Amino acid sequence: MKRKYENKFHFNVSTLGQFTRHYWRQSKTNAARTTAFIFFSIFLILAVLVFAGGIDNFYFPGVYSHNSTLTITTKKAPKRAEFQLICAKGNETQVCPTTYPISHHNPIINPSHSSSPKCPSYFRWIHEDLRPWQETGITRDMVDRARRTAHFRLVVVNGKAYIEKYRQAIQTRDIFTIWGILQLLRLYPGRLPDFELMFDCDDRPVVRSEDFHGPNDGPPPLFRYCGDDSSLDIVFPDWSFWGWAETNIRPWSIVLEDIKEGNKKTKWKDRIPYAYWRGNPHVTPTRKDLLSCNSSQESDWNTRLYIQDWDEQIKQGFKDSNVGDQCTHRYKIYIEGWAWSVSEKYILACDSMNLYIKSQFYDFFIRGMLPLHHYWPIRDNSKCTSLKFAVDWANNHTNLAEAIGKAGSKFIQEDVKMEYVYDYMFHLLNEYAKLLKFKPSIKPLGAEGTLMEVCSETMACSSNGISNRFMRESMVKYPSHSLPCTLPPYDPHVLADFFEKKANLTRQVEIWEDEYWHKSN
Ligand SMILES: *[C@@H]1O[C@H](CO)[C@@H](O)[C@H](O)[C@H]1NC(C)=O
Ligand SMILES: *[C@@H]1O[C@H](CO)[C@@H](O)[C@H](O)[C@H]1NC(C)=O
Ligand SMILES: *[C@@H]1O[C@H](CO)[C@@H](O)[C@H](O)[C@H]1NC(C)=O
Ligand SMILES: *[C@@H]1O[C@H](CO)[C@@H](O)[C@H](O)[C@H]1NC(C)=O
Ligand SMILES: *[C@@H]1O[C@H](CO)[C@@H](O)[C@H](O)[C@H]1NC(C)=O
Repeated sequence: MKRKYENKFHFNVSTLGQFTRHYWRQSKTNAARTTAFIFFSIFLILAVLVFAGGIDNFYFPGVYSHNSTLTITTKKAPKRAEFQLICAKGNETQVCPTTYPISHHNPIINPSHSSSPKCPSYFRWIHEDLRPWQETGITRDMVDRARRTAHFRLVVVNGKAYIEKYRQAIQTRDIFTIWGILQLLRLYPGRLPDFELMFDCDDRPVVRSEDFHGPNDGPPPLFRYCGDDSSLDIVFPDWSFWGWAETNIRPWSIVLEDIKEGNKKTKWKDRIPYAYWRGNPHVTPTRKDLLSCNSSQESDWNTRLYIQDWDEQIKQGFKDSNVGDQCTHRYKIYIEGWAWSVSEKYILACDSMNLYIKSQFYDFFIRGMLPLHHYWPIRDNSKCTSLKFAVDWANNHTNLAEAIGKAGSKFIQEDVKMEYVYDYMFHLLNEYAKLLKFKPSIKPLGAEGTLMEVCSETMACSSNGISNRFMRESMVKYPSHSLPCTLPPYDPHVLADFFEKKANLTRQVEIWEDEYWHKSN
């Protein structure tokens, strides 16, 4: 079969070669010759791509709209059936295809290889986030109570997803969050149990722990993008991992590659030896406060701070906001916004040392990072002096500072790569589902509600512009050929140790800082 295909392929190449030579001799003008040359080159490049085993990842835009499959066998990777979008044509209504695998009859999974690697350490917080329900489980009533602020309810039954929408979310947050969960279902078909949850797409956590005391108080389980020490909201990856259409920030897997390239552009020691920040200062007073640390003729705080005007960027086509091009300084400042900031992962992925201003809100992965290992801690109540000391120290200890920068970016590039983001979602939802004490229902909750089946088709086929592009770029095309990583067990001692270590390291830096300012006064 394969042999035959190759013969046919050679025949095509040589026929084309003859044709090209003939055309070349006949053509009188340079333009015609150039055309012939380009035509032949493109054909050769395509041929090389196909036979180098790149067909698995090679993207034919035309193939999307129908379900014909390319069946070329390659030597390297075993053949995998690609999930394609099956969009309705013309005036047909879009339906969810019934041909999705919803169980994991995946021949590529070899039981003898199923001992998956251990998940990154920040996966421990899955147990911590679900601890309020560990004793009681999660009842129908608790979920219903989470509806008060939720933007949507998500139900997954037999591998199919249903959404009941309650209110409009900011920008496309809800759309890309739901899209992300649908991609998770494509990645691990049939591996998640049935579940049902409430999701709030706003910034700040709302389930205050002080309102719930006894173990039988039953706080409402509410999913959102961040948490803080005084709340019980369940932390889930934010929408930007699949793209942030309004700011033109592409899906994480693509941006991460851009930043890796950006890191290579300037050697660490050749970078500008100041602390850099660019962002919108108007979202919260602490950011306005940071701007007062910009270096000026009167006071040099070792900083370079800039205002990002998104409206202006939108007008200019995001010319200056490519996150991949922002590893030009040795030190980069992270400061939270109204809550956690989406910018965090882009800043940390850059291998400049991160100056992390103490934050109230955390997202799902930052909880695994340690001061002096992955970033340099900065006080939030004395930012300018803290920043000046940090940069001064780091410029005196460039090897150490460079190593902290590299460790931070390695953490983001390896432990927070898209595969692990999906695994985090998988384990969080899987552990959550285990706690449910009722059978998830695909009936609408409210009398006015409508519960609609959603799938990649219902979302992507009808979308357009940047949203459509980001969905296609972030779409999962194959079920995973391996199992999710292995979740570390709940161990309160490990966690307590981690908190203590983090506090110790932060205190250490603050002591150095106080000595420095004490001496220079
Ligand atoms: C597309 O899929 C449907 C259902 O599986 C099948 O009946 C049809 O023949 C396929 N069309 C093509 C062009 O492969
Ligand atoms: C689609 O449009 C054609 C003509 O424009 C019409 O004949 C046909 O009934 C329509 N189909 C549906 C499902 O509305
Ligand atoms: C901060 O200072 C730099 C010059 O050192 C200047 O270019 C920049 O505009 C200033 N930023 C703000 C927000 O004023
Ligand atoms: C950095 O080195 C300079 C010159 O040796 C010294 O004056 C300064 O105190 C040092 N700063 C820190 C934070 O170590
Ligand atoms: C934190 O510091 C204290 C005292 O400085 C020390 O006894 C303790 O072992 C440290 N803990 C960790 C986890 O490093």
